[in-house]
Amino acid sequence: MGTPTLFTGILGILIAITVVLFIIAQNIVENDPKWDDPRVAQTIQQRIAPVGKLNTSGAPIEVSEAGTVSLISEAQAAPDYGSGEKVYNMVCQACHSTGVLNSPKLGDPAGWGPRLDKSKDVLYESVLKGLNLMPPKGGRPDLSDEQVRMAVDYMLDSLN
Ligand code: HEC
Repeated sequence: MGTPTLFTGILGILIAITVVLFIIAQNIVENDPKWDDPRVAQTIQQRIAPVGKLNTSGAPIEVSEAGTVSLISEAQAAPDYGSGEKVYNMVCQACHSTGVLNSPKLGDPAGWGPRLDKSKDVLYESVLKGLNLMPPKGGRPDLSDEQVRMAVDYMLDSLN
């Protein structure tokens, strides 16, 4: 019977094809980039990197024009309250430069009137605790007591 011979022949051809495919496959893999090459690894890392990250650090962020987001260091982000003048300019001048709500103005001794008879400590207390329409610390509870005192000193100096 010819059938077993035909069967053996087909089987032989299939085995031959398998071997050829195996050799071709081996060659393709060998020509591929080396997976242990650090540049390849880096590229893969970049491609599978998550699209976003949750900012749990509490630090403020900055978004560039290109859309990249970066953390701003505390030092960069924090406004400079390093002197009485700076605190005044950032916080107190909102009312005290123009005398809003009848607040005593910077550099206007007449407008301060009887307030000038108060001791410095009393004036500090007025600002730290608030006085009538002036909220405590001028509405900025994040200021330290020292920063508030510096601002008061700056305002008092302006009256001389
Ligand atoms: C929202 C407006 C506002 C801001 C902001 C503000 N003040 Fe005043 N301030 C007032 C008003 C109004 C008064 C007058 C209060 C009164 O006598 O009834 C006043 C009064 C004062 C007095 C006199 C207190 C007294 O015992 O007579 C001082 C000193 C003073 N402010 C300092 C500051 C300083 C320093 C800051 C910033 C840290 C500041 N203020 C921020 C509205 C403001």
